[in-house]
Amino acid sequence: MEIIDQPSYIKTFDKKDRALYTENLSVFYGGTIQKQFDASLQFKKNTITALIGGSGSGKSTFLRCLNRMNDQVARVDGKIMFHGLDVNQKNINVYELRKNIGMVFQRPNPFPKSIRENITYALKANGQNDKQKLNQIVEESLRAAALWDEVKDKLDKSALALSGGQQQRLCIARALAVKPEILLLDEPASALDPVSTSKLEDTLKQLRSNYTMVMVTHNMQQASRISEYTAFFHLGHVIEYNSTDEIFTNPKGKLTEDYIQGSFG
Ligand SMILES: Nc1ncnc2c1ncn2[C@@H]1O[C@H](COP(=O)(O)OP(=O)(O)OP(=O)(O)O)[C@@H](O)[C@H]1O
Ligand SMILES: [Mg+2]
Repeated sequence: MEIIDQPSYIKTFDKKDRALYTENLSVFYGGTIQKQFDASLQFKKNTITALIGGSGSGKSTFLRCLNRMNDQVARVDGKIMFHGLDVNQKNINVYELRKNIGMVFQRPNPFPKSIRENITYALKANGQNDKQKLNQIVEESLRAAALWDEVKDKLDKSALALSGGQQQRLCIARALAVKPEILLLDEPASALDPVSTSKLEDTLKQLRSNYTMVMVTHNMQQASRISEYTAFFHLGHVIEYNSTDEIFTNPKGKLTEDYIQGSFG
């Protein structure tokens, strides 16, 4: 058992303000090697929460639990509460869950299909065949992901012909097409150049009015630019969780302070 000897502070919210929260989430890889310790975090509706911390501190592990992406590789104990339901229970329909809690990965991973098909794929698989409705969702999703103007004349061209930044926004549009409430993003800008990163950040800021987002980032400037709340992870423990402002200007713990100073330095 690893002991982290420092005062910790974990912010909480009223139940009505929470989009999602975990209680004592622990993750065991290979059955026994514990990599995440009792994380209890609450995510406020219509905000962006940044997950920060060193490499291997458990940010991705935690994030992947939230829509059950760790099912095949780890044992996950504890609760993940979404609309009064513990979605960490065995009998949950994971496919339905992921429609509500979507995910965007570090590397843009569009399907090797047209831009349009990337967006309609899941909808068609769900039985949506109304062409007009599909066209409408394609436009809405691309607009929400701030990509529409750049691709509206080439919807039937391959998604792979887009730039990395455009592909990442397409992946966001694809995630939005099934109308999730929550978007999980694991270092979504790490493969992008500064201009594409800035566009992606603008997109995420705009999405805040309709979605709740949880985003892993290594980029402290990015966390301070776009997130309202920040959780600091260290060796699988959540050490501190507070408003981004407090974490960056007035951290309560030495570990947090050191990490933030080192990362900005
Ligand atoms: N599938 C896996 N099997 C076994 N151990 C794993 C697996 N995935 C992650 N781990 C371990 O869990 C710990 C946390 O890893 P995780 O990927 O969550 O860290 P991270 O904070 O996202 O790091 P990074 O910033 O490098 O992405 C690490 O010790 C890692 O080696
Ligand atoms: Mg990671």
